[in-house]
Amino acid sequence: MTLDSLVALKPYLSFFHPIMMWIVLAIALYALYLGVQVRRTRLAEGEAKKALVKGRFAIRHHQIGSILLAVMVLGAIGGITVTYFTSGKIVIGPHLFAGLGMVGLISTSSALVPFMQKHDWVRSLHISLNLILLGLFGWQAVTGVQIVQKIVSQMATNGAG
Ligand code: HEM
Ligand code: HEM
Repeated sequence: MTLDSLVALKPYLSFFHPIMMWIVLAIALYALYLGVQVRRTRLAEGEAKKALVKGRFAIRHHQIGSILLAVMVLGAIGGITVTYFTSGKIVIGPHLFAGLGMVGLISTSSALVPFMQKHDWVRSLHISLNLILLGLFGWQAVTGVQIVQKIVSQMATNGAG
């Protein structure tokens, strides 16, 4: 593939990361739902517990969590790569640092998994880190859409010129 044919892909590349990240946000909210069910199952008693156990929430949460970990790290790397490819530089701004922070948070909360069953405080730390993660995700969605708007208006100006 020549560089010219890659250049033809440029306009589409800019939209790949934002679209993918909205899908990742949906996966993160599903992980939150499953996590809440894990907690409800653990704290329930008697018949209610029996019914909840059938949902296999712990396994499903761990599986979706692992997928979330992978797509979030890849998505952040993708964001940086696309920015560099389309504008020739990495934009040093709030979206970059919040994104890097999210990669750190999700790696740490996943690394806590083997220690969670034994220590309640580690479990609380897992939940706290992930709630901060979801808060930052909301911020990323807002700043991300602002960047998309900037790219679209730049494309319109370039097209007109
Ligand atoms: C949106 C992100 C996430 C949220 C909001 C979240 C939330 C939770 C919650 C509320 C619990 C239940 C704790 C309790 O029983 O009191 C939990 C447990 C757990 N989480 Fe997460 N989590 C997230 C991401 C992840 C990720 C990325 C992984 C691993 C790759 C993961 C693995 C686990 C595991 C293994 C458990 C324990 C399940 C068990 O009790 O067997 N979670 N999480
Ligand atoms: C719905 C949410 C999101 C939208 C709409 C969005 C949108 C964007 C856009 C348009 C760019 C610029 C790409 C270019 O210049 O062609 C970008 C860059 C980037 N994104 Fe996102 N993004 C979102 C979520 C995330 C998340 C969750 C992360 C991290 C986990 C992240 C990490 C990055 C990074 C590191 C860059 C490169 C630095 C920069 O340009 O600021 N983004 N994003």
